[in-house]
Amino acid sequence: MLSLVVLISGGGSNLRALLDASQDAEFPARVVAVGADRDADGFAHAEEYGIPTFSVALSSFADRDAWGEELLAQVRSWNADLIVLSGFMKLLPPDFVDALAPNVINTHPAYLPEFPGAHGVRDALAAGVAQTGASVIVVDNGVDSGPIISQERVAIEPGDTESSLHERIKPVERRLLIQAILDIANSRIDLKDL
Ligand code: GRF
Repeated sequence: MLSLVVLISGGGSNLRALLDASQDAEFPARVVAVGADRDADGFAHAEEYGIPTFSVALSSFADRDAWGEELLAQVRSWNADLIVLSGFMKLLPPDFVDALAPNVINTHPAYLPEFPGAHGVRDALAAGVAQTGASVIVVDNGVDSGPIISQERVAIEPGDTESSLHERIKPVERRLLIQAILDIANSRIDLKDL
């Protein structure tokens, strides 16, 4: 049984999909805790499933490194096999990534390496391209630059707004994330080999 700590910042729809999937006794992973850099709305999903939450706000620390140290300590306290970033909107300090790599994965609403960073959906729309996508990657010390686990194209429709496009991308992200976790749990993917 793969134990997961999920880090979010927002509504946590990807987290919700993971929690719903793990209700199936056959699903080989369990979320043991949910963390955030704020009192995230998505904590409501964890609370509904009785899963502990923790928040480590950057503003409570002298600097990003001190914040990263506390976040790392909190994450490590759960002894999880895999850390899943899903809508976590902060860059993790190198010490955090180096301590846990390669067991940190991230979902991104673009077809990496296209449109990395915090505004992947908006950037794809602004670029006027016909399609973008969703990606699941291993987190490294770059910005959405780690090894790609899986990705899938998503069409951009005429009249799309950032919101309508993002809502079309998220279900693809959720499906890719759940499949990635299944493949990792069943040793079909070894993150050390990517
Ligand atoms: C997801 O598209 C994630 O990839 C991006 O922000 C969104 C978070 O959505 N970083 P949610 O909080 O899971 O609903």
